[in-house]
Amino acid sequence: MDRIDISRPRIFKGEFSPPPDKSISHRAVFFSSLAQGKSIVRNFLRAEDTLSTVNAFRSLGIQIEERISSSSDYELRAESYELVIHGKGLHGLSEPLNIIDCGNSGTTIRLITGVLSGNPFLSVLTGDSSLRTRPMARVITPLTMMGAGISARDNNRYPPLAIKGSGLSAIKYEMPVASAQVKSSILLAGLYAEGETVIVEPARSRDHTERMLPAFGAGLQVSGLNVSVKGGADLLPADMEVPGDFSSAAFFIIASLLIPDSEIIAKGVGINPTRTGLLDVLSKMGAKIEISNMREVSGEPVADISCKGKALLKGIQISGESIPSLIDEFPVLCVAAAFAEGTTTIRGAEELRVKESDRIRSIATELRKMGAEIEEYPDGLSITGNEKLKGADVESHGDHRIAMSLAVAALASEGKTTINGISSVNISFPSFFDIIRKLSS
Ligand code: S3P
Repeated sequence: MDRIDISRPRIFKGEFSPPPDKSISHRAVFFSSLAQGKSIVRNFLRAEDTLSTVNAFRSLGIQIEERISSSSDYELRAESYELVIHGKGLHGLSEPLNIIDCGNSGTTIRLITGVLSGNPFLSVLTGDSSLRTRPMARVITPLTMMGAGISARDNNRYPPLAIKGSGLSAIKYEMPVASAQVKSSILLAGLYAEGETVIVEPARSRDHTERMLPAFGAGLQVSGLNVSVKGGADLLPADMEVPGDFSSAAFFIIASLLIPDSEIIAKGVGINPTRTGLLDVLSKMGAKIEISNMREVSGEPVADISCKGKALLKGIQISGESIPSLIDEFPVLCVAAAFAEGTTTIRGAEELRVKESDRIRSIATELRKMGAEIEEYPDGLSITGNEKLKGADVESHGDHRIAMSLAVAALASEGKTTINGISSVNISFPSFFDIIRKLSS
């Protein structure tokens, strides 16, 4: 039974720790596997997407041990996971004996394509039916310019991909789309290239790679929208800790703003400014969100986030450079907009159409079933707020963030909502429904 019934709770109160950050967990496995020696990754996100990265490196010959730790830092979560990764250096990977299945994970397939471009053996990458429709030309084009041999389905556009790496040369590349996956893929290939690889982004995307790679000894520099990396030197092992995932906390922040008398505190959440554009947007919409206990964890800013409902939200216009800093939060922001006064318009967000699902189409289709008034554009949508959304029978479209956004809509609506396809939450947030239960009991 892959569905759940959700209604408005009588209470929605309490503290919780969101799961460890997905983007940072992926990168920790990548860099540790390529470093020479034993690295430790504390508070690793054990979810389907990040396990796709772990399994990919295991099939390239890297030994990765998993431990359960009952660290008191995460007392609000039943258990936290730790990885011990025995990296073999940039040139220590071995040819995989089989096709590598990247599951649903865009980060795994795009970043590993960069790594395999620098390795002189044959690898074949594939994924689930969603991943096999996600654009790969955005990494194939620059990696081919560096000298990699890559072929992919449908005229080099989609997975499966076959990669035969070779001696790469550094390039200067102006990225047409702001994408941290593309930037990180090229930076990883740059580690194998002779000389300095320079990337210019059109707008700033999440910068976890830039923050983490220097901790592994890489020669990396950031100047405005330019990022450069020096190739040729081996990476050193590191001991690091992953902060809580802001994108996962976002569902509870918005739920709290929509439910009367709610009061929540999300503890230990990453507040890297390249990720928290949602906080600026919500504050412009009229929400009051408190940030406290600011600290740094493994080079990333972390804090506790508290909010109380119910907020009187106002519609807003969103476009332009801020979009990458809230790209994964748009589905749940659409839910907030559906309950706000006035119209919210989002433009310049065409990237949403090529995520785990076409997120413009999926969220518009499902929120309309609950009574929302939505107009779709090729690059966004506009939502006219309406306090009276009603429970309905809705679908996740196999997309974790759509499933969780619909759960937030269900918590704030009248009547019962049935969400189908909820196992998709295991991609990034396996304990999502447990936390909802905990806060509403
Ligand atoms: C991610 C980057 C973003 C984001 C994805 C994770 C990453 O994708 O949507 O969930 O870890 O680098 P793009 O780089 O394609 O924008």
